[in-house]
Amino acid sequence: MKTRILFVDDEEMILQGLKRMLRPMKDNWEMVFAVSGSEALALMAKQPFDVVVSDMRMREMDGAELLGRVKKEHPQVIRIILSGQADREAALKSVKSAHQYLSKPCVPDILKNTINRSIALRDLLHNDKLQMLISRMDSLPSAPCLYAKVVELLDKSECSIKEIGETIAKDLGMTVKILQLVNSSFYGIPRRISHPKEAVSLLGLDTVKALILIMGVFSKYEHNDSFPFKIELLLNHSIKTGVIAKKLSAMEKFPKYIADETFISGVLHDIGKLVLAANMPDQYKKALGMAKKQNIPETEAEKQIFGTTHCAVGAYLIGLWGMPDVIVELVAFHHSPSDYVIEDFAPLAIVHAANALQHCGNRADLPVTDILKIDYAYLDKTGLTGRIAEWQKIGAGVNDEGQSNG
Ligand SMILES: [Fe+2]
Ligand SMILES: [Fe+2]
Repeated sequence: MKTRILFVDDEEMILQGLKRMLRPMKDNWEMVFAVSGSEALALMAKQPFDVVVSDMRMREMDGAELLGRVKKEHPQVIRIILSGQADREAALKSVKSAHQYLSKPCVPDILKNTINRSIALRDLLHNDKLQMLISRMDSLPSAPCLYAKVVELLDKSECSIKEIGETIAKDLGMTVKILQLVNSSFYGIPRRISHPKEAVSLLGLDTVKALILIMGVFSKYEHNDSFPFKIELLLNHSIKTGVIAKKLSAMEKFPKYIADETFISGVLHDIGKLVLAANMPDQYKKALGMAKKQNIPETEAEKQIFGTTHCAVGAYLIGLWGMPDVIVELVAFHHSPSDYVIEDFAPLAIVHAANALQHCGNRADLPVTDILKIDYAYLDKTGLTGRIAEWQKIGAGVNDEGQSNG
C-alpha cells in the first residue's frame, strides 16, 4: 500500500516546487497538497493520511497550531515540520507536537529518509504484540517530577543555568545521586563538583537531564526484591554505556549535539529491561534462563517469551516521555542496527558498540573479533570498523571503575 502524505504550505509556488521535486516518488507515495491549515484539517477529516508535512510560517494557521490540532484529532498521523534555517530554534521550541523537523530548502533524499524513518518507527512501536504486552503491564514508570520541572524551565526563554542548578539542588536525594555520579572517576572530570549548577555548566544540560531521568526511574525500584537481576548493576551498565558512547563520539569528532544524543541513548538503552523485569519478573527470569541454556541472544529469548524485545519496550517508553525520535530510534535498534532504515548511521554504530564494549569490562586486550556482540556488517557500512581497537581502550578505561553487566 502506498504511503499517504499531506503537504501543507500557504505559498502556491512552494507547493508546486515540492510537487515537481517529489514526482519520482509517486510509485511509493500518494501525495496530496493543501494551501492552508484549515484545508489540511478538512482533507484529513475526509480521508486517512500516514504523514503530514507542514510549513512553519503560514498566515492563517501556523505550523505549530496545525500540528497541535493534528496531534489531538488524528494522533496516529506522523507530523513533520518544515522550517527555514533561521527559524529552526523557534520551531524546536514552539512545535512540540512535531515528530521530526526539516530545514528548508529540503532535499528529496532527506525528506524521503525522514518519512521512511518515521514510518518504520511507527510500525515498530505500534505493532500488535508490543501494544498487547504494554497493555498487560500494571505500571509504566513515569519520568521523575524533577525532570518535568527542568524541561518546563528550559521552555522559558530567559531561564539560566543557575536557576536550573538551584531547582535541582532543592531535590536533595537527586542532588546527592548526581554529584556522586559526576564525581566518580570514570567520568573524568578533573575537579570535584559540589553543586548541581556546576554539573550543568561542566557537563551540559542534556547530560544532566538524562542523568535525572535515569536516576529518578531507577530509584523507584531500589527496594524491590523481585527483580531477576541486581538493578544497581543495570544502572551502572547503563550509565557507563552512555559515558563510553559520548567519549567515542568525541573521539570521532562528531558535533556536540551528536555526542549528547549518543550519551542519552546509551544511558537509556536498556530501560526496557527494567520495565519488563518490574512488570513480569517471572517471565523475564525465564527469558534470561532460556538465553543462557540455549546460548541465544537475550533479545531472541525475549521475542519468544514476550513477542518483542527490551529494545522496543524501552523505545516505546521513552517515546511516551517525549524524547526526540532520534533517541527513540537509537534505543530501538541498539542490538540490531542492521534492521534500521538508515544503513550507515554512525551514532547508532557508536551506541551499539558502546553497549558491547561495556560488556567487555576492563579488557583492552581482547582480540577485536572476540567482541562478539558487535554487528560488524553495520560498522563496515559506517566505515568505523577500523576504529574498534581504539574504542576498546576507551571502553576499558571507563569500565576500570568496576565491573558490571546488563
Ligand atoms: Fe540491551
Ligand atoms: Fe545493554
